[in-house]
Amino acid sequence: MKQVLGAIVFIMFITACGNNTNEGNANGNANTSDPNYNKGMELIANSNCLSCHKLNEKAIGPAFQDVANKYENNDVNRKMLANKIIYGGVGNWGNIAMAPHPEINQTDAETMVKYILLLRK
Ligand code: HEC
Repeated sequence: MKQVLGAIVFIMFITACGNNTNEGNANGNANTSDPNYNKGMELIANSNCLSCHKLNEKAIGPAFQDVANKYENNDVNRKMLANKIIYGGVGNWGNIAMAPHPEINQTDAETMVKYILLLRK
């Protein structure tokens, strides 16, 4: 009996791992080798972004993964999103405003955006 239980637990474990691999997750993304990934992640960790954003689920702001799924990773979108980080804004995800970050320069904002857009599933 114990063995059967063990086998069931083992199978559940394997299945759970399998699901994770299929869905991918923020850190298991294939694009993590991009140098902007670590740099952007660090900039975000050192700012206040994570008080309103989570990677995989909506918080006060949208999940970064949802942002990545919404926008094509191109020049126009990267500039637009970098401006949103610097100047703030509202209306793309609801009625709650994104706080402005005038202390963040254009290059850093774009690096943050590059990291966020690499989270696309
Ligand atoms: C006070 C809460 C708050 C903080 C702090 C915050 N955000 Fe946001 N963010 C939001 C909200 C709310 C939205 C949705 C705005 C909208 O509906 O257009 C948002 C939207 C965004 C978007 C998507 C913009 C769009 O137009 O689709 C990006 C990218 C983003 N935030 C990045 C960041 C980064 C990077 C930081 C840190 C430098 C940060 N946010 C800090 C609340 C916040």
